[in-house]
Amino acid sequence: MTTSDHPEPGAPARSDFARDFLWGCATSSYQIEGAAAEGGRVESIWDRFAATPGKVRDGSSGAVACDHYHRWPEDMDIARDMGLNAYRFSIAWPRVMPGIGAAPNQEGLDFYARLVDGMLERGIQPWATLYHWDLPQYLQERGGWAERDTVQRYLEFVDAVTRRLGDRVQHWITHNEPWCTAILGNYEGVHAPGLADFGTALQVCHHVLLSHGKAVPLIRANVAAARVGISLSLHPLRAASDSAADRAAMERHDGLRYRWFLDPLHGRGYPAATLEQVGAAAPVVHEGDMAAIAVATDFMGVNYYFPETVADAPGHAPLDARVLPPPAGAETTAMGWEVAPQGLGELLGRIHADYAPQELYITENGSCYDDEVQADGSVNDAGRRRYLARHLGAMKDAIAAGVPVKGYFAWSLVDNFEWAEGYLRRFGLVHIDYDTQQRRLKESGKWYRAFLRQPD
Ligand code: NOJ
Repeated sequence: MTTSDHPEPGAPARSDFARDFLWGCATSSYQIEGAAAEGGRVESIWDRFAATPGKVRDGSSGAVACDHYHRWPEDMDIARDMGLNAYRFSIAWPRVMPGIGAAPNQEGLDFYARLVDGMLERGIQPWATLYHWDLPQYLQERGGWAERDTVQRYLEFVDAVTRRLGDRVQHWITHNEPWCTAILGNYEGVHAPGLADFGTALQVCHHVLLSHGKAVPLIRANVAAARVGISLSLHPLRAASDSAADRAAMERHDGLRYRWFLDPLHGRGYPAATLEQVGAAAPVVHEGDMAAIAVATDFMGVNYYFPETVADAPGHAPLDARVLPPPAGAETTAMGWEVAPQGLGELLGRIHADYAPQELYITENGSCYDDEVQADGSVNDAGRRRYLARHLGAMKDAIAAGVPVKGYFAWSLVDNFEWAEGYLRRFGLVHIDYDTQQRRLKESGKWYRAFLRQPD
């Protein structure tokens, strides 16, 4: 027995979950594919952003990344050997749509067709994300997501992809973390396209949600028995203190961070109090938009990493509220994110109580540690192994409490390009040596494999 076979104290067993529960890992195109100038791919906003000095901490980009474009068979072998029965990946819009009015790039579509066939041959269910932040740069030149026309362009992309892959991909995620697309990219400016305007960010957000709403019926038309959802990045919130001011700040933050997305997706429109607070930055909404956004979906994807503590902060734009660092003494990862498995349970319980989506999937959950390869080639990421085991435990408890969670995707299959942090941050269950592109299963990956080999 190796260390990785020892159960983590308190970890659940595979048999604690339904037999048809999905066990996967997640990745995204720009973070792993590389081959940025191959196969007819055009520039994305992340190529442009990463090429701008000072935007990515180590000055790197996704130009090569994990070279997954060429090495995907090896990566899918690793996924199969780990025992995954599902894999979440994303499709790079700039590989598929080379320009406005241009025909879809068959070479790009062929790549994803081969990748998906490779999953199916290995008994892995493909879960395709249609937008994980790599907008074609030619669309940003015309205003990007702030421009209403981008919704139409997205639908053309979605149409091309679902027509081509709809005979073998049943599960579709329209968008990954719209809050990040809108706020990190267009208000905080720390992600591509690097803008810093609150009104732009809320308009982006509206168009992203609208594109989700309009894509759902299109996907259903192109894919027999389609199952469609959206993945949101969510945090359970805590007020910094019991003071009325901190509690009110938490409510304001919640209005934008949680309800701004979940309310419209469930037919309740944008939350009235938040609309009032954002004032003139509120988005332009056309008649019919809110009904389109409220389209029924098959599942809700939840990306959970850590809880947020919110304090009243007069003058702190946009809502006089500030997210504090984790409380003193809290366990944190190398990102400085608090490790709080119980937060996953709280969050799931809240979503279930507030909106009762018929099915929930954890479409991302994971941790960053400063992994090092030992002389014998092993990577002893005990922190990540423990994080994984404890979050599976919290998920088991949430299911026992009645939340219909049907699957779990660990972020991430492999170390990859962590956006503005470049390659300085590792989240993989598989270590990547970026000099040699060697893949090594970490102890966390071995633990997941041992967990998945248990009888179901
Ligand atoms: C969320 C994003 O979807 C993913 O791209 C990112 O790498 C992870 N969180 C970790 O930050």
